[in-house]
Amino acid sequence: METITLHNKTFEVSIYDTEIAEIVTEITKAINDSHIESPIFIGVLNGSFLFAADVMRKIIIPNSEISFIKLSSYSGTKSTGNVNKLIGINGDISGRNIILLEDIIDTGVTLEKIIELLQKENVHDIKVATLLFKPEAYTKNIKIDFIGKSIANDFVVGYGLDYNEIGRNLPHIYKLKE
Ligand code: IMP
Ligand code: MG
Repeated sequence: METITLHNKTFEVSIYDTEIAEIVTEITKAINDSHIESPIFIGVLNGSFLFAADVMRKIIIPNSEISFIKLSSYSGTKSTGNVNKLIGINGDISGRNIILLEDIIDTGVTLEKIIELLQKENVHDIKVATLLFKPEAYTKNIKIDFIGKSIANDFVVGYGLDYNEIGRNLPHIYKLKE
Protein backbone atom coordinates (compact mmCIF):
# COMPACT_ATOMS: atom_id res chain seq x y z
CA MET A 1 0.00 0.00 0.00
CA GLU A 2 1.38 3.32 -1.10
CA THR A 3 1.55 5.77 1.81
CA ILE A 4 2.77 9.35 2.17
CA THR A 5 3.44 11.68 5.08
CA LEU A 6 2.15 15.25 5.25
CA HIS A 7 2.70 17.40 8.37
CA ASN A 8 3.59 14.20 10.29
CA LYS A 9 0.34 12.45 9.40
CA THR A 10 0.25 9.30 7.30
CA PHE A 11 -2.07 8.95 4.32
CA GLU A 12 -2.80 5.94 2.12
CA VAL A 13 -4.04 5.86 -1.48
CA SER A 14 -7.80 5.90 -1.71
CA ILE A 15 -8.56 6.81 -5.34
CA TYR A 16 -5.87 6.31 -8.00
CA ASP A 17 -5.36 8.84 -10.79
CA THR A 18 -6.77 6.36 -13.32
CA GLU A 19 -10.05 6.14 -11.36
CA ILE A 20 -10.12 9.94 -10.96
CA ALA A 21 -9.88 10.22 -14.77
CA GLU A 22 -12.84 7.80 -15.14
CA ILE A 23 -14.88 9.78 -12.60
CA VAL A 24 -14.13 13.03 -14.45
CA THR A 25 -15.16 11.45 -17.76
CA GLU A 26 -18.46 10.22 -16.28
CA ILE A 27 -19.40 13.47 -14.56
CA THR A 28 -18.52 15.49 -17.66
CA LYS A 29 -20.69 13.21 -19.79
CA ALA A 30 -23.62 13.89 -17.44
CA ILE A 31 -23.02 17.64 -17.60
CA ASN A 32 -22.74 17.60 -21.41
CA ASP A 33 -26.00 15.60 -21.60
CA SER A 34 -27.87 18.08 -19.39
CA HIS A 35 -28.14 20.68 -22.19
CA ILE A 36 -27.60 23.65 -19.91
CA GLU A 37 -27.56 26.68 -22.18
CA SER A 38 -24.39 28.83 -22.44
CA PRO A 39 -23.19 27.98 -18.93
CA ILE A 40 -20.63 29.75 -16.81
CA PHE A 41 -18.66 27.13 -14.95
CA ILE A 42 -17.42 28.52 -11.65
CA GLY A 43 -14.58 26.69 -9.94
CA VAL A 44 -14.23 27.20 -6.20
CA LEU A 45 -10.59 27.87 -5.39
CA ASN A 46 -8.22 26.59 -4.27
CA GLY A 47 -9.34 22.97 -4.10
CA SER A 48 -11.09 22.67 -7.46
CA PHE A 49 -8.32 23.94 -9.74
CA LEU A 50 -7.31 20.54 -11.14
CA PHE A 51 -10.86 19.17 -11.28
CA ALA A 52 -12.10 22.29 -13.08
CA ALA A 53 -9.27 22.09 -15.61
CA ASP A 54 -9.89 18.40 -16.31
CA VAL A 55 -13.67 18.87 -16.60
CA MET A 56 -13.41 21.88 -18.90
CA ARG A 57 -11.30 20.19 -21.55
CA LYS A 58 -14.08 17.60 -21.98
CA ILE A 59 -17.01 20.02 -22.05
CA ILE A 60 -18.65 20.33 -25.47
CA ILE A 61 -21.56 22.64 -24.56
CA PRO A 62 -21.50 25.65 -26.94
CA ASN A 63 -20.54 29.04 -25.47
CA SER A 64 -19.23 27.57 -22.20
CA GLU A 65 -17.33 30.02 -20.02
CA ILE A 66 -15.17 29.42 -16.97
CA SER A 67 -14.40 31.60 -14.01
CA PHE A 68 -13.09 31.03 -10.50
CA ILE A 69 -14.17 32.28 -7.10
CA LYS A 70 -12.69 32.23 -3.68
CA LEU A 71 -14.45 32.78 -0.39
CA SER A 72 -13.19 35.46 1.92
CA SER A 73 -14.04 36.29 5.50
CA TYR A 74 -12.74 39.81 5.02
CA SER A 75 -14.73 42.97 4.72
CA GLY A 76 -12.30 45.80 4.01
CA THR A 77 -9.31 45.14 6.22
CA LYS A 78 -11.17 43.40 9.04
CA SER A 79 -12.00 39.73 9.26
CA THR A 80 -15.66 39.28 10.04
CA GLY A 81 -14.95 35.82 11.42
CA ASN A 82 -17.22 34.11 8.94
CA VAL A 83 -17.10 33.62 5.24
CA ASN A 84 -19.19 36.33 3.63
CA LYS A 85 -17.66 37.53 0.41
CA LEU A 86 -16.99 36.04 -3.02
CA ILE A 87 -13.75 37.18 -4.62
CA GLY A 88 -13.45 36.80 -8.38
CA ILE A 89 -16.92 37.75 -9.62
CA ASN A 90 -16.06 40.72 -11.81
CA GLY A 91 -18.40 40.83 -14.76
CA ASP A 92 -22.19 40.76 -14.74
CA ILE A 93 -23.50 37.23 -14.16
CA SER A 94 -27.17 38.19 -13.76
CA GLY A 95 -29.50 35.96 -15.74
CA ARG A 96 -26.78 33.38 -16.40
CA ASN A 97 -26.76 29.61 -15.90
CA ILE A 98 -24.08 28.72 -13.36
CA ILE A 99 -22.47 25.33 -12.92
CA LEU A 100 -20.46 25.32 -9.70
CA LEU A 101 -17.41 23.07 -9.68
CA GLU A 102 -16.42 21.91 -6.18
CA ASP A 103 -13.63 19.56 -5.16
CA ILE A 104 -15.52 18.19 -2.17
CA ILE A 105 -18.78 18.75 -0.33
CA ASP A 106 -18.59 17.80 3.32
CA THR A 107 -21.09 19.47 5.70
CA GLY A 108 -22.40 21.69 2.90
CA VAL A 109 -21.86 24.88 4.90
CA THR A 110 -19.52 26.31 2.25
CA LEU A 111 -21.88 25.36 -0.58
CA GLU A 112 -24.84 27.02 1.11
CA LYS A 113 -22.86 30.23 1.61
CA ILE A 114 -21.68 30.29 -2.03
CA ILE A 115 -25.22 29.74 -3.33
CA GLU A 116 -26.57 32.48 -1.08
CA LEU A 117 -23.94 34.92 -2.39
CA LEU A 118 -24.48 33.92 -6.05
CA GLN A 119 -28.25 34.37 -5.72
CA LYS A 120 -27.61 37.99 -4.74
CA GLU A 121 -26.12 38.41 -8.24
CA ASN A 122 -29.55 37.46 -9.68
CA VAL A 123 -28.29 34.49 -11.64
CA HIS A 124 -30.88 32.48 -13.59
CA ASP A 125 -29.96 29.01 -12.36
CA ILE A 126 -27.29 27.28 -10.27
CA LYS A 127 -26.32 23.65 -10.75
CA VAL A 128 -23.75 21.98 -8.51
CA ALA A 129 -21.06 19.52 -9.61
CA THR A 130 -18.65 18.04 -7.09
CA LEU A 131 -15.85 15.55 -7.51
CA LEU A 132 -16.33 14.10 -4.02
CA PHE A 133 -19.29 14.03 -1.63
CA LYS A 134 -19.47 12.88 2.00
CA PRO A 135 -23.14 11.89 2.46
CA GLU A 136 -22.71 11.04 6.16
CA ALA A 137 -21.41 14.54 6.90
CA TYR A 138 -23.87 16.50 4.74
CA THR A 139 -26.28 18.63 6.76
CA LYS A 140 -28.06 20.65 4.05
CA ASN A 141 -31.05 20.11 1.76
CA ILE A 142 -29.46 21.69 -1.30
CA LYS A 143 -29.62 19.35 -4.29
CA ILE A 144 -26.24 18.30 -5.63
CA ASP A 145 -26.84 17.79 -9.33
CA PHE A 146 -23.63 16.01 -10.36
CA ILE A 147 -21.62 13.86 -7.95
CA GLY A 148 -18.34 12.27 -9.03
CA LYS A 149 -17.99 9.87 -6.15
CA SER A 150 -19.55 9.55 -2.70
CA ILE A 151 -17.00 8.66 -0.04
CA ALA A 152 -16.98 7.72 3.64
CA ASN A 153 -16.37 10.35 6.29
CA ASP A 154 -12.58 10.21 5.86
CA PHE A 155 -10.21 13.14 5.53
CA VAL A 156 -8.73 13.11 2.02
CA VAL A 157 -5.92 14.95 0.22
CA GLY A 158 -4.49 15.15 -3.28
CA TYR A 159 -5.70 16.21 -6.74
CA GLY A 160 -6.31 19.74 -5.48
CA LEU A 161 -7.37 18.85 -1.95
CA ASP A 162 -5.06 19.92 0.85
CA TYR A 163 -4.07 19.15 4.39
CA ASN A 164 -3.15 22.58 5.80
CA GLU A 165 -2.29 23.75 2.29
CA ILE A 166 0.00 20.88 1.25
CA GLY A 167 -0.76 17.81 -0.82
CA ARG A 168 -2.69 19.59 -3.59
CA ASN A 169 -0.11 18.48 -6.18
CA LEU A 170 -0.53 14.75 -5.55
CA PRO A 171 -1.97 12.92 -8.59
CA HIS A 172 -3.91 10.35 -6.52
CA ILE A 173 -6.38 11.01 -3.71
CA TYR A 174 -5.18 9.75 -0.33
CA LYS A 175 -7.07 9.25 2.92
CA LEU A 176 -5.84 9.68 6.45
CA LYS A 177 -4.59 6.39 7.85
CA GLU A 178 -6.25 5.37 11.12
P1 IMP B 1 -18.01 21.92 3.95
O1 IMP B 1 -17.99 21.23 5.29
O2 IMP B 1 -18.90 21.20 2.97
O3 IMP B 1 -18.38 23.37 4.10
O4 IMP B 1 -16.54 21.83 3.38
C1 IMP B 1 -15.70 22.91 3.55
C2 IMP B 1 -14.39 22.80 2.85
O5 IMP B 1 -13.59 21.99 3.66
C3 IMP B 1 -14.34 22.15 1.48
O6 IMP B 1 -14.57 23.03 0.42
C4 IMP B 1 -12.89 21.70 1.46
O7 IMP B 1 -12.05 22.78 1.08
C5 IMP B 1 -12.65 21.34 2.88
N1 IMP B 1 -12.75 19.90 3.11
C6 IMP B 1 -13.81 19.17 3.49
N2 IMP B 1 -13.50 17.87 3.60
C7 IMP B 1 -12.19 17.78 3.25
C8 IMP B 1 -11.26 16.69 3.16
O8 IMP B 1 -11.57 15.50 3.41
N3 IMP B 1 -10.00 17.01 2.77
C9 IMP B 1 -9.60 18.27 2.47
N4 IMP B 1 -10.44 19.32 2.54
C10 IMP B 1 -11.71 19.07 2.94
MG1 MG C 1 -12.56 23.72 -1.09
